[in-house]
Amino acid sequence: MIDKVYVPPVKIQGIKTKLVPFISKGIDIEEDTIWYEPFMGSGVVGLNLAPKHAVFADTNPHVIRLYNQIKDGKISSYIVREYFEREGKFLEEKDEKHYYYIRDRFNEKHDPLDFLFLNRSCFNGMIRFNRDYKFNVPYCHKPERFAKAYITKIVNQVKHLEEIFPEKEWEFKCQSFEETIREAGINDFIYCDPPYIGRHVDYYDSWNEECETRLRDALIASGAKFMLSTWEENKYRKNEYIKSIWGMCYKMNQEHFYFVGASEKNRNSMMEALLTNYDPTTKNRKIK
Ligand SMILES: C[S@@+](CC[C@H](N)C(=O)[O-])C[C@H]1O[C@@H](n2cnc3c(N)ncnc32)[C@H](O)[C@@H]1O
Repeated sequence: MIDKVYVPPVKIQGIKTKLVPFISKGIDIEEDTIWYEPFMGSGVVGLNLAPKHAVFADTNPHVIRLYNQIKDGKISSYIVREYFEREGKFLEEKDEKHYYYIRDRFNEKHDPLDFLFLNRSCFNGMIRFNRDYKFNVPYCHKPERFAKAYITKIVNQVKHLEEIFPEKEWEFKCQSFEETIREAGINDFIYCDPPYIGRHVDYYDSWNEECETRLRDALIASGAKFMLSTWEENKYRKNEYIKSIWGMCYKMNQEHFYFVGASEKNRNSMMEALLTNYDPTTKNRKIK
């Protein structure tokens, strides 16, 4: 089980940082298993489990481009430091004018460093795109956002990847979950964390009942062991799809708190569920 969790440079709605120890308890992988993560987001789960072989994928091209450029050495921790020292200074001087300047520049050129800048200085650290695939999250209104300690934190998050990538056989692909799952064989492991139905929607990240059903069918057709992260209930609603779509799976639960902004009063409790096609205690592949 993992207890010291590495935090990646990208922040994303529904990030599983706090749930990594819980998720890792139920995972069943061997030395030669290929780890497939079709909805990688920040990648926090696979990056912490750190299997030798992995395919990380997502339909958001910007996340994939960032990780690929770190892997290829085009973006290094040194370059990240230089970039944030320079742009952070401009942000301090010009405040929101500079944020919106970078946002326009990113929407035109798609530079992964600008993506990282926006991701780390936008309102609530959200990733959201409009129907024209333009990043449209407003500014967090913190001109001193990129203080020295904060830059060092981001630099270290990139440095960790820089150190670990050469030891691994990892691929980062921009593609739909169907394409990723089709690549998996029966000895592989697929960890899925799709958008939660009815919760976050943007143009890389929409999800509905039909998608959830296609996901289940693709997972079963793959013959691989799989684990799905989903929500069970909060104080207002229960996820009925656990029964109607995933009724054949094993289930583990843990309570989790999501924060909207920094304030304690804005935390929402959610019962998380992990669904598997094997018994997570014995690891035997058997759908009930
Ligand atoms: C809940 S997030 C994953 C969070 C991730 N586990 C983490 O902890 O950071 C869901 C991700 O699925 C991606 N996504 C949405 N629809 C997709 C699709 N059809 N195929 C592949 N990825 C998709 C989104 O871009 C988003 O990054």
